[in-house]
Amino acid sequence: MELAAETEVALERAEAAHRHEQLFSQRAHHIKQSAVRDVFDISIRPGLISLAGGSPYLRSLPLDDLAATVADLIRGHGLEALQYGGGRGTDELRRLACEIMAEEGITDADPEDIVITTGSQAAQDVAGKVFCDPGDVVLCEDPTYVGALNSFEAYQVDLQPVETDAEGLVPERLAERIRELEAAGRRIKLLYTIPSFNNPSGITMTAGRRQQVVDICRDHGILVLEDNPYGLLRFDGRPLVPMRAGNPDDVLYLGSFSKIFAPGVRLGWALVPRHLFRRFYLACEAVVLCPSPLNQMLVTAYFRDYDWRAQLRASRALYAERCSAMLAALGEHMPEGVSWTEPDGGFFVWLTLPEGVDTYPLLTQAVEAGVVFVPGAAFTPSDEPASTLRLAFSGVSPEDIAEGVRRLAPIIRRAVEAAPPGHPA
Ligand SMILES: Cc1ncc(COP(=O)(O)O)c(C=O)c1O
Repeated sequence: MELAAETEVALERAEAAHRHEQLFSQRAHHIKQSAVRDVFDISIRPGLISLAGGSPYLRSLPLDDLAATVADLIRGHGLEALQYGGGRGTDELRRLACEIMAEEGITDADPEDIVITTGSQAAQDVAGKVFCDPGDVVLCEDPTYVGALNSFEAYQVDLQPVETDAEGLVPERLAERIRELEAAGRRIKLLYTIPSFNNPSGITMTAGRRQQVVDICRDHGILVLEDNPYGLLRFDGRPLVPMRAGNPDDVLYLGSFSKIFAPGVRLGWALVPRHLFRRFYLACEAVVLCPSPLNQMLVTAYFRDYDWRAQLRASRALYAERCSAMLAALGEHMPEGVSWTEPDGGFFVWLTLPEGVDTYPLLTQAVEAGVVFVPGAAFTPSDEPASTLRLAFSGVSPEDIAEGVRRLAPIIRRAVEAAPPGHPA
């Protein structure tokens, strides 16, 4: 395009943007780009080792066989696979979701209480839509999953983080926070929790605490939203029983096929307390009409016709090896004053630097050194600087993990040495 024409187009666009700015809803002003997506875009640069994105390892999937399965599905059932389907998802996939949850200890799930969703992410968004008015409080772990923060914030929810320690959410702090908020006249709707291998911290809530937390929420009329995409990825293969198991009326459970099969199919499920089901399901349907029939058929075929348990065993072993490689590299290279979690499963390790260090500016230095991480500030609702950061081990080879940590270490060492007085390393 000629320069003059280009300028004219740019001017017209700027004018339209100005005219349309007022069309945005109040809600739209709360929609942000996730910091993880920012870092994800940087990570694609060649030569960089990305310890940022928590991508599942897909190379061991039987891709050729899956390609043949897709071809068979379209050839044999194309008119169904490519047509609109039912809003709740297929009977087969809802039954399958029940079988998967039974592996973890939820043995009473009824397919009638399940809606297939476009991943756990979409279900979180629907929960915000169905349960939250602007100003309502949603409690969450500190730190918590950035995608959930983004979903809830778009509904103008007041997200209140609750302290966690090595055993997950601290029940006493939760009860205290609820009392304070209620005394201030606030309306608390949900507790959003990732009890197993929290993203980003890797921490697991102990069995004892799980029931305590549900009991506290039940006493205050708060619904627990249990997000459990990593539950079956406990390295020793013995998943902890989800909070939903003994609490069918007080926990809305979210499952996902992303980490136990493939995120590209964009499918998960919600097991919804029966008294909440209708409106939750209708809200899901309003967004997508129906989850993709072809993808549902593919997932069903994978879990029915392939040895998915063997595949999962292999994935767990691979993630365990990568986690060990990361912990070993951290032990070797990180300076004194830095601590980190030691997860029993999932994808992430969480580092804590001395107070007063802001990890956000370290990201630019890390990119220059050839490694990427996610600064901890992304995982809390507050805008305060954070002295924490997340490293993902799931998608990177042990050799690259070691090299990535080796590249990161001098940057962290310098930051720790420069930590402000009063916060000695
Ligand atoms: C805790 C948590 N919930 C939900 C998601 C998104 O899952 P899905 O792919 O099922 O939408 C992720 C993805 O990283 C996650 O870590």
